[in-house]
Amino acid sequence: MAVCIFQEDLKAAPKRAPAWKPLLDDLVQLGDFHAKYKEFRILPTRGQLAAPRIMFLGLGKRGDFLLDTAREVGARVALTARDLKLRTAAVWVPPVKGVSPREAVGALAEGAALGLYEFREYKGEPKEGDDKRVAFEELRILDARAANEKGAKAVEEARIIAESTNLARTLIMRSSLDKPPEVLAKVAQAEAEKAGVKATVLAPAELKRLGLNALLGVGAGSVKPPRLVVLEYGAASKPAMLLCGKGITFDSGGISIKPADGMDRMKYDMAGSATVLGAILAAARLKLPVRIVAIMALAENMPSGSAIRPGDVLVAYNKKTIEVANTDAEGRLVLADALSYGVDKFKPAVAVDLATLTGAARVALGGIMTAVMGSDNRVIQSLIEAGRHTGDDLWQLPLNRSYEKQVQSDVAELRNQGIGGMAGAIVGGAFLKHFVDGTPWAHLDIAGTCWTEKGTAELQKEYLPKGATGIGVRLLVEWMRRYKA
Ligand code: BES
Ligand code: ZN
Ligand code: ZN
Repeated sequence: MAVCIFQEDLKAAPKRAPAWKPLLDDLVQLGDFHAKYKEFRILPTRGQLAAPRIMFLGLGKRGDFLLDTAREVGARVALTARDLKLRTAAVWVPPVKGVSPREAVGALAEGAALGLYEFREYKGEPKEGDDKRVAFEELRILDARAANEKGAKAVEEARIIAESTNLARTLIMRSSLDKPPEVLAKVAQAEAEKAGVKATVLAPAELKRLGLNALLGVGAGSVKPPRLVVLEYGAASKPAMLLCGKGITFDSGGISIKPADGMDRMKYDMAGSATVLGAILAAARLKLPVRIVAIMALAENMPSGSAIRPGDVLVAYNKKTIEVANTDAEGRLVLADALSYGVDKFKPAVAVDLATLTGAARVALGGIMTAVMGSDNRVIQSLIEAGRHTGDDLWQLPLNRSYEKQVQSDVAELRNQGIGGMAGAIVGGAFLKHFVDGTPWAHLDIAGTCWTEKGTAELQKEYLPKGATGIGVRLLVEWMRRYKA
């Protein structure tokens, strides 16, 4: 079993000392444990407790406790148990002011399910005996106050949210060979069907008829043609919340081709679309009382004789003309069509898009925070607030008129690249603003945060394994729960 300890409680003498207290006291006396955040020790219990071993896990200072602390604890305990080839583990966290038992229990369960995630599709079956993967089954949460219906519901909800996040992670990790637009659209459709979400897939002929020429243009160089997936959940009588995701199944840069070094990472350029899929599936499974439309703009950006060229002009769904200054700024092109189509067709009360849009967002904020900007401060603030709750930290970038000049073109109404190459993340947002037709809107640039290399251990959260983070799914679920459209 795992017992979590605040620094302040290390030397406290409780009235009714729990059975593990002498073991802890010994550790403290030896100077072996200080309850620093994430510090832990495992001891055999020599029959003194029901469990054969006990793990003491430091929580740091009480005042620093966040829900994310509980998520990290859940992950750490589950991962340690798996390393020890255990099937189950129990964890106890002391009560904290301002955090309800329901919330704490949910966060522990969520952290465990997120932390245990592994992408093994290309690894083959684990070999006999080889393995920590002796299937860890259950993290039992010892909290008398949550051992009731409410607690069970919190755990069940956490499971749904973690599973939706892990689905997004899997799609992002998958090889581009195995997820061209047509295939990814089919996967989305199948998942939607299971969750009771309506799915419509638009193929090139239909896209052409409707005038989604920016999306078609981006996909024109590839032998794998684009798709637009439209997912709908909830009563049409309610005001819709529109979610749009960039879904470039591979971004080579096109004719403005990227350098070879690191190009393999561009399989994750569909993370935005995987995120909106995960979010709407979770909303449906949780039966949230909202109306959601999620659009995945899927295309592969490849160079070839049929590809669009720098200097080409495209006419987007809303009839705005776009000079393609750089074929590598393709995300804003597919989103231009997805947003303007979504806004026109569904007349949403609010729109949010997610995209691995710019290297500049990654340079500015690294893997720590997601850039957020938009046309409506209430939407932006509500997203930031939801992120505080889920541990998906957002940082707002400015988006005022001066930046909008950067996307003016000499030959068309807009150009897809800024002049001078400065403030790249903001210029991306300034471009997208032309496609929301005044709808209150926010744009999340997840280029830095959708993937983690586990390089900076002290900054790394325990529930984020190497690779796709699934950032945004939990954030959107929380946001949909709270937002009054
Ligand atoms: N998918 C990339 C952005 C990206 C880069 C995501 C690195 C994650 C890591 C995007 O399509 C792109 O290439 N953007 C260009 C835009 C520029 C040409 C205006 C960029 O950021 O360099
Ligand atoms: Zn690109
Ligand atoms: Zn891209």
